[in-house]
Amino acid sequence: MKQVVLLFVFCFIAVQFYGQINLCPVLPSPVVYQKGNGSISIPKEIAIQQKINKSGNRISRLDLEQINLLLKSSHDISIIEVDKHPFILLQKSLNVPKDFYSINIHEHIIISYSNERALFYAFQSLIQLIQTKNDINFIDKAFLQDYPKFEWRGLHLDVSRHFFTVNEVKKYIDLMARYKFNTFHWHLTDDQGWRIEIKAFPRLTSIGAWRDSTIENHYNSSPRTYDSKRYGGFYSQEDIKQIVSYASDRHINIVPEIEMPGHSRAALAAYPEYSCTGSQNNVPGVWGVFEDIYCTKEETFTFIENILDEVLELFPGKFIHIGGDEVPKTRWKKCHECQEVITSNKLRNESELQSFFVQKIEQYLTKKNRKLIGWDEILEGGLSSESTVMSWRGTKGGIEACRQGNYVVMSPGSHCYFDHYQGKSRDEPLAIGGYTPLQKVYEFNPIPNELDVSEASYILGGQANLWTEYISSMDHLEYMTYPRAIALSQALWCSSKPNFETFFNILSNNHFSALDALNVNYSKTSLKPVIQITSEKTGIGIELQSEDENEEFETIVHSKNGKAPMKFSIQSNELLLINRTKNSRKENSYRFKSKKTGISTHLKISNHIGLGYPIQYKTRPNAQYNYSPTVLLDGQYGARPWRGHQWIGFDTSAILFEIDLQKKKRIRQIELSFLESNGSWIYLPKQITIIVSKRKRNFEFTMNQILTEKVKFDIGKRTKKISFKIENEIVIPDEKPGAGQHPWTFIDEILLN
Ligand code: ACM
Ligand code: ZN
Repeated sequence: MKQVVLLFVFCFIAVQFYGQINLCPVLPSPVVYQKGNGSISIPKEIAIQQKINKSGNRISRLDLEQINLLLKSSHDISIIEVDKHPFILLQKSLNVPKDFYSINIHEHIIISYSNERALFYAFQSLIQLIQTKNDINFIDKAFLQDYPKFEWRGLHLDVSRHFFTVNEVKKYIDLMARYKFNTFHWHLTDDQGWRIEIKAFPRLTSIGAWRDSTIENHYNSSPRTYDSKRYGGFYSQEDIKQIVSYASDRHINIVPEIEMPGHSRAALAAYPEYSCTGSQNNVPGVWGVFEDIYCTKEETFTFIENILDEVLELFPGKFIHIGGDEVPKTRWKKCHECQEVITSNKLRNESELQSFFVQKIEQYLTKKNRKLIGWDEILEGGLSSESTVMSWRGTKGGIEACRQGNYVVMSPGSHCYFDHYQGKSRDEPLAIGGYTPLQKVYEFNPIPNELDVSEASYILGGQANLWTEYISSMDHLEYMTYPRAIALSQALWCSSKPNFETFFNILSNNHFSALDALNVNYSKTSLKPVIQITSEKTGIGIELQSEDENEEFETIVHSKNGKAPMKFSIQSNELLLINRTKNSRKENSYRFKSKKTGISTHLKISNHIGLGYPIQYKTRPNAQYNYSPTVLLDGQYGARPWRGHQWIGFDTSAILFEIDLQKKKRIRQIELSFLESNGSWIYLPKQITIIVSKRKRNFEFTMNQILTEKVKFDIGKRTKKISFKIENEIVIPDEKPGAGQHPWTFIDEILLN
């Protein structure tokens, strides 16, 4: 009964005060926020009193130290414990939701909390509420009630592809704590480096933690180049203990990941006897999925179990992540010992062998009182009901797992892969691909619509993954993680999150400056205007679209012709016209600097006769790579390596389109620009034909054997229409990446001179 009454009170408060959440600077947003009138100043030394209940429980010394540390580092405030007349009174609350806390800021502050983790969260909120003016700290009178929606609120970090030092990992954890994440998924082993000291197998780190070189540029760039620098590092067991304890002090559990049976090249470089072939391979300096994986013979299990024994000693948490993703079966198919395991265990195929592998490890972990979690591939071939599934290939695996009664952590690539691009500008640093802007993360809901209430009860929560193939420094890691992690914290914490605009206002008004003060290199991409390019009668129009309709941009145009730069000011949503030039090609660079944020956005436009003309496509580009109707004649080149947003992509072998110049113009030369990225099955065309017509006669220009990304045709004719026929192979020839599949053709600017 008590709980029913309590629930009623929460609902009442929530309905009454929810509308004020836009006034609350705290992120993730609390369940209830009611602003009072006025503010109170906060002394440099805060007197805290614990109200001791019947059970006589006191807050641990450690937690008080953590609170002291938080206040000291954020606002140079220290705490002292007193028996009466406190500035902050701490009291336990009973019969409240898990991890519940409330803060009542009136003449003094009363914090009610359900447990010490909740008390820590209360202080994380409190430090976000404190404001400072002229060196004086104060806080607005208010009342907050809060508790999390999901119990798994995770961030992952891949330290194998690139290594991050103990101090960098601690900073990552500090920021997680600030935004009330509670699970740090530490991806400690992969093909490109083994990063955890295992005393029983010293070669795992003396050999497995080091690679001789690392691939430069994008994996799909061709030709591939390498830096020839020895690269690596690992955490000693002492380092790990330190980090586990550091995280635990901040109420963050660490889930270590030891990848198996795939992504194990680093381990097998050190101990090749546990592979199927036994051959000695290096620790690779290139990304991807490798065929050499652990053999399923008995000795491998002993090896892995011995490793796990040391891992379990270091990590006290319940969950152990065993990877399980991207496991090619080629070696198993040819291995006598693996085939023997299939026969003797009456397995049907190699998928069931993978399931056998996972279940054997699970039995071992269960015996040790731990729980196995793995990527959604562990569902293949059957899974014990005790395993937990991390759904990364969309939500399908997660849905299937919930329906069969397995617990699930949702981490779909569409919303939770922070190694994807967060903006469409070519200024974005090189990333693996994809496009996951802030708003997309904000819209993440770990519970897919397909699930009913009882199925959804198996969703533990969600997590973002930071794969670091293309992230080699802490600065870059912070850039990819923040502010997207804050958007994710809303999705995982808030029972009912405010709309994106409200969130974005709170974020930009309160959190960016706080992140600056914490020396976090967060991305400002979300503060930049979206650049819309339109086809206009006399050329192109550029429109800077921003949240703030009246945002002013100071614009500077530099041209290559040596003239003094042009300066003027434009407003968001105003059209900046760029007229096409009669003949010569000239490149202008534009810098738009927001007067409000001081952030600049850059654009380069190569002007030419064709600028802004519409294109009639007779062959449709692939819908996924159909960036905009103006892209081929907007004066901008697609970014290389491919960033995805300035290119038009076709998956047909013949491509036909036409440019209508509306009246006759003399065309001296036409330059086309293609992308070659064979790793992504993108190939240069085989043949290009251009047809121009003059006095009802057609002139045809054809070129075969295209070997370069830029191709020029000398035309020297007056014409109104220009037709293009671009042909590629019907299927990719043998021996080339994607052999037997349709090649892709990617085109960007067509320059008319
Ligand atoms: C994964 O991204 N391979 C789990
Ligand atoms: Zn084998």
